[in-house]
Amino acid sequence: MILFNNFKAHYQQYKDILDKAYARVAESGWYVLGKEVESFEKELAAYIGTKYCVGVASGTDAIQLSLKAYGIGCGDEVITTNMTAFPTITAIMQTGATPVVVDIDPLSGLLDASEIEKKINANTKAIVPVHLYGQSCDLEAIMAIADKHQLVVVEDCAQAIGATYKGKRCGSIGHTGSFSFYPTKNLGALGDGGAISTNDEAVYNKLLMLRNYGQSVRYYHTEEGINSRLDELQAAFLREKLTLLEGWSERRYEIAKYYRENIKTGTFIEERAYGKPVYHLFVIRHEQRNALLDHLNANGVQALIHYPVPIAHQDAFKGQKEEAFAHTELFANQVLSIPIYPELPQAEMETVVTVINSFNG
Ligand SMILES: Cc1ncc(COP(=O)(O)O)c(C=O)c1O
Repeated sequence: MILFNNFKAHYQQYKDILDKAYARVAESGWYVLGKEVESFEKELAAYIGTKYCVGVASGTDAIQLSLKAYGIGCGDEVITTNMTAFPTITAIMQTGATPVVVDIDPLSGLLDASEIEKKINANTKAIVPVHLYGQSCDLEAIMAIADKHQLVVVEDCAQAIGATYKGKRCGSIGHTGSFSFYPTKNLGALGDGGAISTNDEAVYNKLLMLRNYGQSVRYYHTEEGINSRLDELQAAFLREKLTLLEGWSERRYEIAKYYRENIKTGTFIEERAYGKPVYHLFVIRHEQRNALLDHLNANGVQALIHYPVPIAHQDAFKGQKEEAFAHTELFANQVLSIPIYPELPQAEMETVVTVINSFNG
C-alpha cells in the first residue's frame, strides 16, 4: 500500500535529532512553558516575519484565542470559507461568535474575496481566510475589505506554514496568523500543538495570559483565559524540525511539479501567481471522483477527500442552511487528495501517476 503519509518513515529519518531533543527536555526537569517554548516562539516569529509568536495547544485554539484577544465573542459574526477543515468553524463557535461562510473561487478552491462584502453587517467583526491546501488566499483584497469595514483578519495558516503572498509569509499580513502542528501538518509535532503570530504587542501580551488561565502574575487572573499551552517536548521537536522545513517545502513543490507534468486525467488546483504554495495537500479534480478513488484504493494507493462535505451542510453548523454555494458543492464532489510528503519515495510517486493514468473513467 502506498500510504498517504508515513510517520514511521519520518521518525526513522530524523530519529537522532528527535531523540536528542527528547532527552534535552526530559533531563531538564521543566516540562511546560519554559526555555524550549520561548526559543521556539522566537525562531518561529523570525521565520514567519512577525515580531511575536505565542505557542498554544492546537491550531483550533490558535484561531479561537486570536479572536478572543481582539474581544470577539457572543453576538459577533466572523466570515470564513465554506470549504475548510471543520476546526476553523469550531474555533469561531468556541468564542461564542457566529461563523458565516462564503463560496469559493472555483479554480483555486480558496475563499472568494469578492463574496465577503455581501455578508458584512453591523455584527461582523472578523474574517478568517483559510490558506487551503498550502496556498495563500488573496490577502491584499481581503485586507482592503477589512480596513474599509474595520474588521480583524485572523489568517488560518494551519495548512500553509512557509507559503508566501507577494514575498511575505502567510501569517505576517493579517492581524494574527494561526498555525497547527498536528502530526500531518507540514511542520508536525509528535502530538498536538499550535501557534499564533502577530506584530501587535498588546495582543501578544494578552495572548500570553489567555493561553494560561488568564494569569498576568502568578495566581492573579486578569483575563478569562483557558489552558492552551504548547509543552516543552513538542517545542523542542518543533525547533529541530523548523530548521528542516524549507527543504521539505521544496521537496513537496518538486513532487507537485512532477504530478502536474505527468498526470493526464482530471484537472489541478490553480496555482496563483501572487505567491508560492507549500503543498500541504496535492488535490486533483475529477468528474468521476468516486470511481477514481475506488480505482486508486483497489490498486494500492491511499487517497483521501479534503473535504467531502461543505461547511454549510455540516450538522454542527447551524446557519445558512437554505443558501446555495454552487462552487463549493461541485468542488466537494470532485476533489481527491493523493500522497505528497517529503519522504515519499520516487518509485511510489511514479506508481501513483501510473495508477491514475490507467483509470478508464
Ligand atoms: C484549515 C485548518 N484549520 C484549523 C485546523 C485545526 O488545527 P488543529 O488540529 O491543530 O486544532 C486544521 C487542522 O486540522 C486545518 O486544516
